[in-house]
Amino acid sequence: MQTYKIAAIPADGIGPEVIAAGLQALEALERREGTFKLDVTHFDWGSDYYKRTGMMMPADGTAQLKPFDAIFFGAVGAPDVPDHITLWGLRLPICQGFDQYANVRPTRILPGIQSPLSGVGPGDLDWVIVRENSEGEYSGHGGRAHRGLPEEVGTEVAIFTRVGVTRIMRYAFRLAQARPRKFLTVVTKSNAQRHGMVMWDEIAAEVALEFPDVTWDKMLVDAMTVRMTLKPRSLDTIVATNLHADILSDLAGALAGSLGVAPTANIDPERRFPSMFEPIHGSAFDITGKGIANPVATFWTAAQMLEHLGESKAAARLMHAVEAVTGAGVRTPDVGGTATTKEVTEAVCEAIRGSN
Ligand code: NAI
Ligand code: MG
Repeated sequence: MQTYKIAAIPADGIGPEVIAAGLQALEALERREGTFKLDVTHFDWGSDYYKRTGMMMPADGTAQLKPFDAIFFGAVGAPDVPDHITLWGLRLPICQGFDQYANVRPTRILPGIQSPLSGVGPGDLDWVIVRENSEGEYSGHGGRAHRGLPEEVGTEVAIFTRVGVTRIMRYAFRLAQARPRKFLTVVTKSNAQRHGMVMWDEIAAEVALEFPDVTWDKMLVDAMTVRMTLKPRSLDTIVATNLHADILSDLAGALAGSLGVAPTANIDPERRFPSMFEPIHGSAFDITGKGIANPVATFWTAAQMLEHLGESKAAARLMHAVEAVTGAGVRTPDVGGTATTKEVTEAVCEAIRGSN
């Protein structure tokens, strides 16, 4: 029997609530399939760890994670620790240290979940956003000078490299090719940002030649928000920079009903390092400890994790169970229901056990 080593890092806020739910669903799947085992190790890293030690994770944190097959991550962020410390202390060092350059964010409207767009239901919005996850404005390049003086300056340099853009473009074209519509939209802002973004456009055109069966088009990021909102059916696979896709995928999550259902995978496509799977949402202080966090985003990212590990059958079973449960009206308050995290989780586990 195949055993996968999973590192669970629930971290902050509702992270521990949704990761516990996700692990419960994964255990139900493991039992239902009987063909693989998950060997889960828990890491207590995050803001509490920071308050005790001054670090979000130990100095050798990524070395400890390296032997794992995948990382199952909750969320970081605490009201009393600055966000750039929590983010740069834990989540980004893992993404960057493990060169997880492809951030994959599927969005679709699940049965029983209402999109804020009128007349748009399941099947009308079915996208995968591929976010470049190593460069752009989030590479950490820049600085501050003359702190506190009137002439103070801060720079946040957007880094784009031919290697970085080519590899994410290839990943996106390959993903588009694997989906039924074989259709990719390349998002930039090459009218105003006339260096790096023009290079994106040029590299997109070069890589497109390797994928003659994929149709593709280009959008400027501002116009893209309009197309996503007014013509959701006209999109399928989408590729954009780290910053642009960060923003577009929050919009996508909202259009699909709630951030509480939106998953993401931080992938090292070359499989040199473990990839990391997490809900898109943050630590949601406003609902922490209330038992009403929506676990669906975490179930969905668990399905992405199983898919990445090669367990496609289990991944499909998990998504069918989630769709049966949302469709039957067992939903948390963020998507218009009255169920608790525990009730949704138990319903999903029951659907897994009862599936054929
Ligand atoms: P957030 O995603 O935590 O919450 C935004 C809103 O969505 C809140 O009203 C929250 O209650 C709701 N929400 C989020 N997830 C939900 C779920 N599963 N079920 C039901 N409702 C849900 O974003 P916010 O409030 O901007 O940030 C809070 C903290 O999280 C900050 O410290 C921020 O830096 C951090 N953060 C961390 C991320 C990560 O770890 N990847 C991503 C986004 C934010
Ligand atoms: Mg974001």
